[in-house]
Amino acid sequence: MATKLSVNINKIATLRNSRGGDNPNVVKAAIDCQHFGADGITVHPRPDERHIRYNDVREISKIITTEFNIEGNPTEDKFVSLVLEVKPAQVTLVPDSPGQLTSNHGWDTIKEKDYLLRTIDVFKKAGIRVSIFIDPVERMAAAAAETGADRVELYTEDYAKNYKKDKAAAVAAYIKAAAIATQNGLGLNAGHDLDRENLHFFKQSVPALLEVSIGHALIADALYYGLENVIQLYKKALII
Ligand code: PXP
Repeated sequence: MATKLSVNINKIATLRNSRGGDNPNVVKAAIDCQHFGADGITVHPRPDERHIRYNDVREISKIITTEFNIEGNPTEDKFVSLVLEVKPAQVTLVPDSPGQLTSNHGWDTIKEKDYLLRTIDVFKKAGIRVSIFIDPVERMAAAAAETGADRVELYTEDYAKNYKKDKAAAVAAYIKAAAIATQNGLGLNAGHDLDRENLHFFKQSVPALLEVSIGHALIADALYYGLENVIQLYKKALII
């Protein structure tokens, strides 16, 4: 099964914001990533707009020729209205708090089931595919199937952290959670700290993977190898 590479361009916006101008230009970056072979573009607007801004999301949506994935916390009304206005191919719901450096946990799909059901329904009615961010825990994957979500995004930070120590052990929980998710009819995405080294083994171990969204490591690698080469390298890592 082919796995799509969605490039998260938040880091390009972070670099731009550090100088206050428009260099690098995030719309151009999105156009170029697609031209270089990315199968999708991911953005993660946060209420303080410290990375990608709400207006960037609107501008990027106009040039998308692949799949647009908007990540964020739906408890923010501004986020929900932005997604409903832009109508991306996919929204990925993430329970991150506003000041958090980066996402650091998935939904508790058991405790938050009613909230998720109500929220997901709003996006589904607008024709938007919904993925929810979860930890690699079998009961979270099973309960995710009862929220109305189309997919789960497995939070891969633990895998990435433990990959160098023992990659088989690092991926074990993901294999189990992935099996439960797919048996229950959910599509599978993954993301967070995936990189050029650990991506191929993850794909080999979880072949049903439909999409990975990668930002930090890919953009950091681009400093050395250039964006075009790096996108091709990551795509190659997804072939088994
Ligand atoms: N998925 C989610 C839900 C995220 O919050 C992030 C980081 O913004 C990513 C994937 C991508 O992680 P990374 O930047 O480490 O590749």
